[in-house]
Amino acid sequence: MKIGKYDIESFVKFLRDNPSFISDVFHMISLDGDVDALKKISEYFNNLDLTSPFKPRFPLHKNYVKFKPQIEEIIRDKNEYALSSLLKIRNYLNEKNDIVRHYSQRSKEYDKIVQFYWPYGREETVKRLELKPGEKLLEIGVGTGLNLKYFPDYCEVTGIDVCEGMLAEARKKLEKYGKKNVKLHLMSANKMKFQDNTFDKALSIWALCSMSDPLGALEELCRVCKPQAKIAILEVVRSPIEEVALLQILLRPINRKFDHIYIEGFPVNSVPFDCYMDLLSLLEKTSIKPVHTEYLTYTKWVLFMIGQNAK
Ligand SMILES: C[S@@+](CC[C@H](N)C(=O)[O-])C[C@H]1O[C@@H](n2cnc3c(N)ncnc32)[C@H](O)[C@@H]1O
Repeated sequence: MKIGKYDIESFVKFLRDNPSFISDVFHMISLDGDVDALKKISEYFNNLDLTSPFKPRFPLHKNYVKFKPQIEEIIRDKNEYALSSLLKIRNYLNEKNDIVRHYSQRSKEYDKIVQFYWPYGREETVKRLELKPGEKLLEIGVGTGLNLKYFPDYCEVTGIDVCEGMLAEARKKLEKYGKKNVKLHLMSANKMKFQDNTFDKALSIWALCSMSDPLGALEELCRVCKPQAKIAILEVVRSPIEEVALLQILLRPINRKFDHIYIEGFPVNSVPFDCYMDLLSLLEKTSIKPVHTEYLTYTKWVLFMIGQNAK
């Protein structure tokens, strides 16, 4: 397989020879497009034109601006980090993938990592569900419960996740916020123990990209949600901007035999996810009809979607 002018083996060599590449790419994407990082990447890939007019357009990125100096500092001091990250990726590729083990190991630091790099969109996404008194809401891949505080007390919330360690963190938050209307279950989104047509609304934030079978999870979601149920999704997706998508392929490590993708672009350990999921195509295969879609960040690698279960 070729990626641009590189085949996979030479790309691995390229990564070894250019240890700051991953952090530069990640920097560019995470920081909502840093012009210097873009130029540098463009130098790496001189056959690419990365100067196309990307314009910031989404208003939620103010936190990026807030954290930018800190992130820049981390990246400046951590070029060696990128190299060791790549070695870790290679080790992962030699290991058997295990999403539960991975998230169990990261559950305590998860909030810090995710809030630092993806601070946007949560509250807005929950708000767009327009939850009403008595409605039943399902959140799949609830994780450490970062969205729990946004759920109003007047609806019935069910959160599921495959990782007990993540749920343990979520339970602490339930106690902290005094939430009595939320039930958490250790359960896979691919095989839910709920009756058909149970939920009025559903939510998935940064969860599908971590699942080994996101399409299966979406199909299950359609089954357990009522007809016309509103479904809100905030996800890392394959960008419709060709150049960014190419960078995403490069970040998606090199090996298709694993379901999960481990990106070591984070300063503290890693969060496993597929940064190249074509969510809109997956949705087309289900009964979820998008009624509103919006790319967040001007690199368009995050998609916010409100849909309806048109089954
Ligand atoms: C990136 S975290 C997102 C957590 C949370 N939604 C948030 O907004 O921070 C992904 C979560 O999906 C969970 N997960 C992965 N595969 C799953 C599956 N098949 N069913 C349910 N949860 C799953 C992981 O254990 C992890 O907690």
